[in-house]
Amino acid sequence: MKKIECIGILTSGGDAPGMNAAIRAVTRAAIFKKMTVKAIKRGYKGLIENDIEDFKTQNVSNIIQQGGTILKTARSEEFNTYEGMKKAYENAKAHGIDALVVLGGDGTFAGAKDILNNFGIPVVGIPCTIDNDLSNTDYTIGYDTALNTIIEAVDKIRDTANSHDRLFFIEVMGRNSGFLALNGAIASGAESVIIPDICPAEIDELENLISNGFRKTKKSSIVLVAESKTMGALQVAEEVKKKHPEYDTRVIILGHIQRGGSPTAFDRILASKMGIEAVNALLENDANVMIGIDNCKITRIPIDKARKNNEPADKNKLLEIVKTLSI
Ligand code: F6P
Repeated sequence: MKKIECIGILTSGGDAPGMNAAIRAVTRAAIFKKMTVKAIKRGYKGLIENDIEDFKTQNVSNIIQQGGTILKTARSEEFNTYEGMKKAYENAKAHGIDALVVLGGDGTFAGAKDILNNFGIPVVGIPCTIDNDLSNTDYTIGYDTALNTIIEAVDKIRDTANSHDRLFFIEVMGRNSGFLALNGAIASGAESVIIPDICPAEIDELENLISNGFRKTKKSSIVLVAESKTMGALQVAEEVKKKHPEYDTRVIILGHIQRGGSPTAFDRILASKMGIEAVNALLENDANVMIGIDNCKITRIPIDKARKNNEPADKNKLLEIVKTLSI
């Protein structure tokens, strides 16, 4: 395998707080190890459109604290075609790029696997998504910040819910996965959590829980609802309202506020460690891996094993915690 001297870096899919910290870590670690770095703008779209520039250490100054991605991000239909991918590969070669470091979620990694399998360009993936919905890593970059954004918002809603004795349904993001909703519910002290796609039975239980459970002991209550393909907070609230018109209910959809903001210390540190590991993997010719974290240890997982995972392994335990602590 050819020695890797030049790395191309891109961010793709939904942005996540901490991406900039990872871009900084990859850039600086590579320059420290005497490699060169090419910044690819707007993900695979920018690679196809040749939107590529040299990155020096000063290009990543003062970004560790910034949310979003200075490289910008986009979704590219063209990259899903062989012709599009070929253009991307040819541009990478013309810029002397020996390997790609891609930051994103399962869609981003699918793109990396495609270009690797079709053109043999080595790739390393760094998991960045607020959803935490990737297998073989305990955490993805951005998840902790999004969780903190959720609890900050729920704490504020709790104040007004209490003042008015209201029942709030708050929808959080997660693209059909349950991580943000379950852990957000525990951390914000929500009375209940509904994740339609991964535990639909909870919806039937909710009514019973409201009539015979937390609503008896508490005046205000908060139900966190995970966004899903099947139903969201509006529909769940409607169902409850049909049976309990007496409750003063409100629905909040937190939306993209969860994707922005300055990354937490946890995400900045994770991004710094993962960024350095990505460069080390390439230096050691151990490409075609996703960098992960397993029990505090930074790991390298074959990129084929980087798959979508919607269900927290301890889903039932987490649900139990919410129930136990909501009485
Ligand atoms: O994957 C991150 C995420 O924020 C999901 O939680 C959400 O379902 C989706 O992206 C929203 O995507 P968009 O920004 O395209 O609306």
